[in-house]
Amino acid sequence: MTVTDATSTDPSAVGQARFDELLADGRKVEPRDWMPDEYRKTMIRQIAQHAHSEVIGQQPEGNWITRAPSLKRKSILMAKVQDEAGHGLYLYSAAETLGVSRDELNEMLHSGRQKYSSIFNYPTLSWSDMGAVGWLVDGAAITNQVMLTRTSYGPYARAMIKICKEESFHQRQGFEIMLTMVNGTAEQKAMAQDSLNRWWWPALAMFGPPDADSTHTTQSIAWGIKLETNDQLRQKFVDMTVPQAEYLGLTVPDPDLRWNDETGHYEFGAIDWDDFWAVVKGDGPCNRERIAHKVKAWEDGAWVREAGRAHAE
Ligand code: 3HC
Repeated sequence: MTVTDATSTDPSAVGQARFDELLADGRKVEPRDWMPDEYRKTMIRQIAQHAHSEVIGQQPEGNWITRAPSLKRKSILMAKVQDEAGHGLYLYSAAETLGVSRDELNEMLHSGRQKYSSIFNYPTLSWSDMGAVGWLVDGAAITNQVMLTRTSYGPYARAMIKICKEESFHQRQGFEIMLTMVNGTAEQKAMAQDSLNRWWWPALAMFGPPDADSTHTTQSIAWGIKLETNDQLRQKFVDMTVPQAEYLGLTVPDPDLRWNDETGHYEFGAIDWDDFWAVVKGDGPCNRERIAHKVKAWEDGAWVREAGRAHAE
């Protein structure tokens, strides 16, 4: 059946046909379009999880603003952390177009019913972690997010265009911190290596479980939400990042890492998925601290929201 089938009187059948047509033509699904309930739920889940990640992601880096080694580094880091807050806001706005309120989303995060990225549950122990987070975490984020500029839901795809431009600045500033560290004293180079050692594996796990264990990938690909799978994106990130580590003169902490001439890709060792799932389920090194801080910020800001509402009235 097509949308032009005048004999159909079932609104959801007409909606489904139009939805299928939009996807088949590579056009965007917009807020007023009919969409299957499961598509709406998946979009809310993914956009909300993404927004929460941006907001919680301010904490590990915010931790170093007062201790940045120079005024220039402090200004750059503050700008980056503010960008992450902005990304959270665009994404909450995109999620709201699907019929959920920002208060509901915050409540779901605070009560543990919605997730945020595993990566933000690891501690930032040294200044060179600001380099490693920018280089590896934002580098992994952008590998996934460039794909999302072409995702099927219009408001999400459009938000991702601006976000990706900013993430690419974040990745470059992280790499530049690493470059400065490796060209410094032997102790500074050792700090950079230590950061790479601690962030490499969590950055690889950030792409999500292997395709064989991924709950949503098959359906999300069919709906044009995801255009590449977790494993494909992870491989892309490894292929892009290993030469950068070599350029920095650092060693990727993986004895099984090797270039495969036949496939044209790097092979890499096994990811510790037990650690990943422990972190996702709330038992990472910083999960409790991150959520407690977020809830406190929400409660401390109640008077601002109240004042805003009073002003609007
Ligand atoms: N951390 C926490 N949970 C994760 C995860 C991760 N790194 N990767 C996967 N999961 C969860 C999924 O949410 C899902 O759980 P659920 O059903 O309860 O929601 C489960 O593990 C199975 O994973 P799937 O592969 O089936 O899940 P998806 O198809 O949703 O794929 C994803 C996971 C690739 C992360 C996808 O959701 C996505 O592309 N999300 C948007 C991008 C995003 O959220 N990035 C987070 C980082 S943002 C960031 O880093 C900010 C920047 O400033 C650095």
